[in-house]
This record gives sequence, structure tokens and C-alpha cells, in this order.
Amino acid sequence: MTEEVEEWWELTARWFQDDIDLDVGVNWTGMGVDDDLRLLLDVAGKDVLELGCGGGQCSVALAERGANVTGIDLSTEQLDFARDLADERDADVAFRQGDVTDLGAFADDSFDVAFNAYVFQWVEDLTACFRETHRVLRPGGRFVFSMPHPVYGLADPESHEIEGSYFETGRQVTPQEDLDVDMVTYRHRVSDVHNALVGAGFRVERMLEPGSSDPDDYEEGPWGEHRPELLAKLPSTLVFEARAA
Ligand SMILES: C[S@@+](CC[C@H](N)C(=O)[O-])C[C@H]1O[C@@H](n2cnc3c(N)ncnc32)[C@H](O)[C@@H]1O
Repeated sequence: MTEEVEEWWELTARWFQDDIDLDVGVNWTGMGVDDDLRLLLDVAGKDVLELGCGGGQCSVALAERGANVTGIDLSTEQLDFARDLADERDADVAFRQGDVTDLGAFADDSFDVAFNAYVFQWVEDLTACFRETHRVLRPGGRFVFSMPHPVYGLADPESHEIEGSYFETGRQVTPQEDLDVDMVTYRHRVSDVHNALVGAGFRVERMLEPGSSDPDDYEEGPWGEHRPELLAKLPSTLVFEARAA
């Protein structure tokens, strides 16, 4: 079903990039740059792979900190934006089109670090992705990523009542009023993600659920899509730090 995701991103990438206007930096929470590079440790001189690099804001940030960065993404539109951004900033990043579930373009043991932010809600087969990521990482390599917390999306943004079931995993279709294509994403339970990592040979070192109970700590976002009152009640982002065992 990757085609549906690719079609969505080809259609919406320009609009997404214009509206979200992301700063260069690491956007772990999907709410703008929060650049906690400590999560990646010191990347200078390291070979880093961004899995689903989108508009390249994170890849460029890491290249500017001295990493040798490769970014892959399904969408040629996203990659065009990323290449323009890297050119503007004079950053040296190798961007290529690819699917995170098939990293056949890369040899075994090619990278020290793999990471991404807010990509795995678009990926159905996390097991394939994690196995491939483990293969291309050197022994002891780090894998750090953030994704939408599966609990957050279950609550109605206005009433805060639970609408869906946490146990209904897999393909989720969100119809779009003004577009010809629906948005297709995938819901994974926390345990699915954890167990897929362990099954692929990773040792999970830390999970993080960043957030605060104060609504004033949040902004509403470019489309008013962030709900401070709800964000102060439920975790919206899940971060995993793992090491290739
Ligand atoms: C929300 S963006 C996140 C990108 C970037 N981290 C950011 O902050 O903008 C999600 C990206 O994942 C990419 N993507 C989704 N599924 C993918 C897959 N199977 N393989 C490669 N890229 C994928 C999309 O094309 C899109 O650019």
C-alpha cells in the first residue's frame, strides 16, 4: 500500500512545505524545531541515514553539524524541496528516492546512526523497515526516531472523549474534503513498535513521551491542528532510542 502514501505526498508536499514552513533543525515532536540533538549524541564525522527525510530540514541540520548525511524519501516532490534547501544552505547531503522498508541501495554496515521524525505513521511494515535499518547500521549503531503517540489520536480534539480503539491497528483512512485522494496512515501499538525493534536485533535503550501538563506550553500550529488543552492531557509523541545489538 506504499503507493497510496507516495501518491498523497506527491500531491501535498508543496502545500505541506509552504504551510508548515519548518525551520532547519530536528523536529522530533512534529510541532516545530525542538532540536534536541542530544538524542543523536555527537554526529560530527558520523555516517547518518535519515529514513523519510521529507523536506530535508533535519538532514541539513545534521550536515551543518558535521555529519555525512544520506536522506531517503518516497516522494520526489519532497526530495526536490530538500535538494533546493540543501543548495540554499550550501549543505552537502546525499538525497535519494527510496522506501524505508527496502534499503537495498545501501551495503551492510554503512551507517553509524539512523533516525527520523514523524514518518512511521506512514509505514505499514515496520518489521521490514527495522530489519533493513539493522542491516545497514554498523554493530553498536544508534537508531533514534519519533512518531505520533498512538494514544493521542484516539481522543476527539474538541470533547477529548475517546473515539477509536487502541487495539484497532493497521490502515487508517482519513477522507479529505478538498482532495481527490484520501490520507492513508497506519496505527501501531507501542508494543508493536517495541517488539519489532527487538525482533530486528535492536536493544531498546530508552522510550520518551515528551510533554507537559500545562496548556500554555503549547502553540496551536499552522493549521490550528495542535490542541494545547488536549496536548496537556495526553502524550502526542513517542520517541525510541535503540542500539543495533
Ligand atoms: C511528515 S513527513 C516527515 C519528514 C520530516 N521528518 C519532517 O519533519 O518534515 C513524512 C515523510 O515520510 C515519507 N515517507 C512515508 N512513507 C515512506 C516510506 N515507506 N519510505 C520513505 N519515505 C516515506 C513521506 O514521503 C514524507 O516526506
